[in-house]
Amino acid sequence: MLVVLWQYRRQIMSELAAVDSVDIQILVDNVTDSLSSVPSFVETELAGLGRRRRAAWVLGGGCLCCAAHGLSCLLTLRGGASVHTVLFDTGPEDRTFEQNASRLAVDLGAVEAMVLSHGHWDHAGAMLRALQLVRDRNGGRDVPCYMHPDMFRSRAAKLPDGSFRPMEDVPSVAALEANGGRVVSSRAAQTIAGDTVFVSGEIPRTSGFEIGLPGQHRRTEDGTGWEPDELLMDERFIAVNVRDKGLVVLTACSHAGVINVLSHARACFPGVKLHAVLGGLHLSGINERVIPQTVKALHGFDLDVIAAGHCTGWRATAALASAFGDTKLAPLAVGKRLRF
Ligand SMILES: [Fe+2]
Repeated sequence: MLVVLWQYRRQIMSELAAVDSVDIQILVDNVTDSLSSVPSFVETELAGLGRRRRAAWVLGGGCLCCAAHGLSCLLTLRGGASVHTVLFDTGPEDRTFEQNASRLAVDLGAVEAMVLSHGHWDHAGAMLRALQLVRDRNGGRDVPCYMHPDMFRSRAAKLPDGSFRPMEDVPSVAALEANGGRVVSSRAAQTIAGDTVFVSGEIPRTSGFEIGLPGQHRRTEDGTGWEPDELLMDERFIAVNVRDKGLVVLTACSHAGVINVLSHARACFPGVKLHAVLGGLHLSGINERVIPQTVKALHGFDLDVIAAGHCTGWRATAALASAFGDTKLAPLAVGKRLRF
């Protein structure tokens, strides 16, 4: 078993190509913040506006992105003469995604693949519109959509009174394919986009204190009721290996727990430095109780950058700022672009 695991890891490691750089454009995030100072590898939304609009322009509300509960990141990977573009999640709904993509003037026609992090509406809500926008600009080519089979199960949160609050479903395979998506559904790890992006398999739960999302349920297989689904095993992270820096790990919601995510990333790529973690750490709401253990355990990964956003929550962000300072903590906001 150990030999098989070792061979598997060695195969994945050898398949992931190092890139010279990755630009991560935040298309959707919970927060808007163009005024706080940022480190040199981060461009604010406002600075990006100035760069893109070379002619005289007037700053106003019509130029700006809209913050919304969710996450969407556009990755541009450069290595030698080749460039790859991957869309990681789409945020909660069409209007925000389309408006932000337009105002940020990103080239959606370059998107060669979409990856969904897990089966929740705040990441999948604009998938169909995103497919339409990409195919309007790429000559109508189909777009591979990397997903996990359990993402399509209906979900609900169990409330204290015992009732269930249903969540909007992820678009079905039929709906995705009717809009030009080519669904690649797998539980296993794989590399995509010319082997420049690693899409993890299911994330082992090893930390002990990260217990998922209490109260989360999903439809039973026969569709007649609800069953507990607190671990959300359909969640995966993606990672990029940036030459001379190391691994940049994107974890959209961290229902697995960010310590489990980083532990698995380290296990998949032993000997590769973990340079940055970016995304939602889900330390808000009921998970606020594990903020101290999480912050303490994060010290064990020697990260250079913690780009926390989306569902991290202000209490966890404050705790991370206090523990790591602003040399490591680079909070996300809609419209920001991070270059590694
Ligand atoms: Fe989320």
